[in-house]
Amino acid sequence: MSCVGHFMYSRCLFHLSKVKTSVPWRGSQKRLFSSTETCRTVMPAWVIDKYGGNDVLRFTKNASFPIINYPNEVIVKVSAAGLNPLDVSMRGGYGAATLTMKRDPLNIKQSGSEFPLILGRDVSGVIMECGLDVKYFRERDEVWAAIPPWKQGSLSEFVVLSANEVSLKPQSLSHTEAASIPYVATTAWSALVNTGGLSKDNCAKKRILILGGSGGVGTFAIQMLKAWGAHLTVTCSQNAERFVRGLGADHVVDYTAGPVEEPLRALEKFDLILDNVGGDTERWALNLLKPWSGAKYVTLVTPFLQNTDMLGIADGMLQTAATMATKAVKHLVRGVHYRWGFFAPSGPALDEIRAMVDAGQIRAVLDETFSFSQVPQALEKVEKGHARGKTVVQISKGGGDL
Ligand SMILES: NC(=O)c1ccc[n+]([C@@H]2O[C@H](COP(=O)([O-])OP(=O)(O)OC[C@H]3O[C@@H](n4cnc5c(N)ncnc54)[C@H](OP(=O)(O)O)[C@@H]3O)[C@@H](O)[C@H]2O)c1
Repeated sequence: MSCVGHFMYSRCLFHLSKVKTSVPWRGSQKRLFSSTETCRTVMPAWVIDKYGGNDVLRFTKNASFPIINYPNEVIVKVSAAGLNPLDVSMRGGYGAATLTMKRDPLNIKQSGSEFPLILGRDVSGVIMECGLDVKYFRERDEVWAAIPPWKQGSLSEFVVLSANEVSLKPQSLSHTEAASIPYVATTAWSALVNTGGLSKDNCAKKRILILGGSGGVGTFAIQMLKAWGAHLTVTCSQNAERFVRGLGADHVVDYTAGPVEEPLRALEKFDLILDNVGGDTERWALNLLKPWSGAKYVTLVTPFLQNTDMLGIADGMLQTAATMATKAVKHLVRGVHYRWGFFAPSGPALDEIRAMVDAGQIRAVLDETFSFSQVPQALEKVEKGHARGKTVVQISKGGGDL
């Protein structure tokens, strides 16, 4: 084709792409000509290219744009991203063995294929695109979600999720407030409802002890259980006492004032203990439960990811299963249940939590809000710990602020 011919041809294509038009085709039938808009292939994001300290964080405008791989997936434009202690741990390589296996179960890719990795487990934003099987959501729906740790996170302009993980955002919260809730809420829900067997119908007057109640999970658990009518005893440092009482704690024990088990032993026994602290708590905490009454101890501090990181997948899983079985049996013969709780992504759980938020039973507890350009400072804040509320990064209204 000559130069002029090529020019005419491309102008003609350009024209067809701008204007939907129709030409006669097969008698009375018309064939529509249309074209899609140019697809974006890159987006701004904070990524890491190796595990380490805060210096491994890198901002790029050229992170891969997420793709819908399965028909039940949605692409969410991120308005705000919540940060959790897990982001700091994952930055340092925690859980890498198991998470890499989950991303690449057949072990086809080379080691390091998880990079560039995007952190950020909470998202609040707007649905930009729906897969063909997505019926419950539509483009432009405002949604929130907790992102599983094996998926790319929310410190980016867009994220792809299963529609099963997504829920409509509470109307009473801004995106920034909404992004402070999903990860801790779905973790608390999984531990207390799925593992602990609690529900709004069986909680009234149950005596519940939350070890480590002033952190992200504890802050949410206090509000949820209070709304369900439980009596709550909470351990935290002395300077968090007013904070946890304000959320609904009935009795507060300061763990910095001496061995915390002593004042706890003097109290009436408990129906359920949620342990957010771990360490040596298992040595004494199960003695605080009412024996032979179905009482449960649920700990969120488990050795699962640590074992697989240290021993590899197969040995790590074997070791984990043996530890869990031994502990469960040891405590069962004493009349109490020993359980491990895990984060579980769940849109339906977030639907129920949305109703509680919009009914005024649960509020967002924010510590500090950072801009997209301040992600390293935001992670540093989370790493320091002891914040009274969640750290959230505002990502974009339009295209990020970088
Ligand atoms: N298994 C899972 O899937 C899963 C998922 C999410 C979280 N987790 C784990 O659950 C735990 C809680 O998570 P989080 O996000 O709530 O953490 P967080 O925000 O760091 O909160 C932990 C809280 O524990 C308190 N604390 C520390 N030592 C304590 C002690 N000896 N006694 C009583 N309180 C103590 C601190 O209170 P003060 O500030 O008052 O000192 C802190 O606020 C973490 O260990 C996390 O790794 C597990």
